[in-house]
Amino acid sequence: MSSDALSNLLHEERRFPPSDEFAAEAVATSELYDAAAEDRLGFWEDQARALHWETDWEQALDWQPPFAKWFVGGKLNVAVNCVDRHVDAGNGDRVALHWQGDPVDDKRTITYRDLQKLVNQTANALTELGVEAGDPVAVYMPMIPETIATLLACARIGAPHTVVFAGFSADALASRIRDADARVVVTADGQYRRGEAAPLKPNVDDAVAKCPDVRNVLVVRRTGSDVTWNEDRDLWWHEVVDRQPEEHEAQAFDSEHPLFILYTSGTTAKPKGILHTTGGYLTQVAYTHRNVFDLKPESDVYWCAADVGWVTGHSYIVYGPLANGATSVMYEGVPHPGDKDRWWKLIAEHKVSILYTAPTTIRTYMKWGPEPLQEHDLSSLRVLGSVGEPINPEAWMWYREHVGGDKTPIVDTWWQTETGAIMISPLPGVTATKPGSAMRPLPGISAEVVDEEGKPVPNGGGGYLVLTEPWPSMLRGIWGDDERYKETYWSRFEDMYFAGDGAKKDEDGDLWLLGRVDDVMNVSGHRISTTEVESALVSHPKVAEAAVVGANDPTTGQGIVAFVILRGSAAEGETLVKDLRDHVAKEIGPIAKPRQILVVAELPKTRSGKIMRRLLRDVAEHREVGDVTTLADPTVMNLIGEGLDKSKGDEG
Ligand code: WT7
Repeated sequence: MSSDALSNLLHEERRFPPSDEFAAEAVATSELYDAAAEDRLGFWEDQARALHWETDWEQALDWQPPFAKWFVGGKLNVAVNCVDRHVDAGNGDRVALHWQGDPVDDKRTITYRDLQKLVNQTANALTELGVEAGDPVAVYMPMIPETIATLLACARIGAPHTVVFAGFSADALASRIRDADARVVVTADGQYRRGEAAPLKPNVDDAVAKCPDVRNVLVVRRTGSDVTWNEDRDLWWHEVVDRQPEEHEAQAFDSEHPLFILYTSGTTAKPKGILHTTGGYLTQVAYTHRNVFDLKPESDVYWCAADVGWVTGHSYIVYGPLANGATSVMYEGVPHPGDKDRWWKLIAEHKVSILYTAPTTIRTYMKWGPEPLQEHDLSSLRVLGSVGEPINPEAWMWYREHVGGDKTPIVDTWWQTETGAIMISPLPGVTATKPGSAMRPLPGISAEVVDEEGKPVPNGGGGYLVLTEPWPSMLRGIWGDDERYKETYWSRFEDMYFAGDGAKKDEDGDLWLLGRVDDVMNVSGHRISTTEVESALVSHPKVAEAAVVGANDPTTGQGIVAFVILRGSAAEGETLVKDLRDHVAKEIGPIAKPRQILVVAELPKTRSGKIMRRLLRDVAEHREVGDVTTLADPTVMNLIGEGLDKSKGDEG
C-alpha cells in the first residue's frame, strides 16, 4: 500500500462536525439538498432568480444530449448583474476590490461605483475599436483591476473573451488567438512577479506576428518598461480608455450567448477551447460562491488567490464574487521564498474572512514552516477553500490548524474548466468533513463513481467519476469542434459526462478524488497534457522521440519527467538538458518545463508500438519497475535504469 493510501485510511475515520458559528443558516442550507432532490430543475430556476433578468426564460432546460441549453429564451447582461445592480441597490460605495500589487506600495481600492465607471469606459473603448457582440477578444494580462474591467466590458457588449494565462509563451498565445479568431488583444507592457518586472508586450508582438487578422492591441502601462510600438495596431489603454464616457447602455443577451472561451489541455497536443455561455454559467457560479463559502456580502472579505488566467479566476475572482456583490482582495504576486509572510500580512491587513487556494500553495507553506503565519493575526478567517488537485490529508490538517486556527471549516471543491463552477464540495455548517475528501455533490448536481461498464460502484469501491445530469454551468462544447466534444466527454459512457478523474466512494458514500486517469498531468493545480510536452520536445532538432509522465511530487502534486531519445547524430552536449527545458518553456510556457529530463536509448513499447508510460512512471517515482512481460523488448528497462543513474543530481 502506498503511504498516501495508508494515510487516507488513517484519516478516513476523522470527522470535523460543523461548528456552531454556522448554525443560524445551517437548516436553510441543508434544505437546499431536499429542494434539489425533489425538483431539480425548479431548484435551478430558483437559483437563476437570484440574478437580474431582462426577459424571463420560457424553459429551464433543453437537453439534446450532449447539448444543453439552460433558461431558454431568457435575456440578461452579465456586467449589469456583476456591477450595475449593486450600485442601483445602494451599494456603490462598497469595496469590490482591495487590489494589492506585487510591489508593496502599489495598492488600489475600487468600489462598485468605481468599477462601474471603469467597465463602462472599457466597453466604450472596445466598441470604438470595432468590437461587436459575438467577436472574440483575447486577453493576456497581469493580475490588475483593468483585467477584471476588460472581462466585464467584453461581457457587457457580448464579445466572448478568451483569456490566456500571462505565463504562457508567445506560441501558445498565437495558437489560441488563431483558434478563437480574436481580432483584438488586450495586454500590458509587463507585470510584476517575485519582486521583479517581467515583460508581456514582446510576447504579444511575437504572437501577433503569426496572427494576421489581429487589428488592434490595447496595452495597459503597468511596469513602464520600454516596448516596441506598431503605430497602426497598438494603442495605449490610458490614451483610449481614459477619455471614454463613463456611461454605457447595456443590452441584454440571450441566456445561451457565448460568454467566454478558455483553453485547457486535453490528451492531444492541441488545447481545447472550452465554451461557456451566459445565464446558466452565471447562475451556478453565483450560487456556488454564495453557498460553498457561506458568503455574507455585507461583511465578508473574500480572497481567491488564483490567477484570472485559469478557470478558478474566471469563476471565483471575477464572476461569482461580483455577481454576489462581494468584497474581494486581488493580489498580483505569488508566494515565493523571498517573501514568506506577504500573504499573511495581506489577510491581517484586510481582515480576510474567506480564503480560496490550491493544495500546492499549502504544501509550499508547510515546507517553509508555520513561523511566518504566527506573526500575523489570522483570526478573521472563517472559511478555507481548496481547489485544483486532490488535497492530501496532511495538507488539509495543516491548513485547518495553522491557517484556520483549528476552527475553520475546509471546503475541498472539485470541479473543472469544463464544469464552469464547483460541483462537489462540503457546505460549511452542514457537512461534517473528512480531511482529504471532497464529500458530496452540491445540491442540484448529480455525480457518480462507475466501473469500466458504467455501473455505479458500491460504497467502498473505486472507479471513474461521472456526472449523470446536465448542470447550468456545463461547457456548451469545444470551440469549433463538436465531434471532439462528443468524443472526449460523452463517448466513454452512455449519456454520462466523463470527467477524466478517478474517484472512490468510502463506506459512507463520500467521495475521494484520486487524480486523472488520462494522459493529463496536474502540476501545481495546472492541467498539462503529456502529449503537448512530448510534441514540444520532439519539435527540438536534437530530439527523435519523447515520452512524458507525471511523477508524484511532494510540493507540486505531480512533476513533469521526460524521457527523450536523441537523433542519431546529436551529441549529448553539456547544456542539452537545459536547452530542452528552455525549449519547452518557449513552446508552451515555463509551467510546462520538465522537472527532469532523461536521455535514453530506447523507450518501453508494447509489440503494437504503444509507449508503456506506467513503467516510465515507476522509474520516475524511483519504484521497482512493474510487469514488463508485454514489452516488445523487456531489456529496454535496464537501459533506462542506467540512464537514470547517469542523470542523478539533475533533478529539481
Ligand atoms: C482537474 C481540472 C477546478 C479549477 C482548477 C483546475 C483536478 C480540481 C480538485 C479537487 C481533486 C481536483 C481534477 C480535475 N481537480 N479540483 N478539489 N480534488 N482533484 O481546473 O485545470 O480544468 O483541472 O483538476 O483532476 O479534473 P482544470
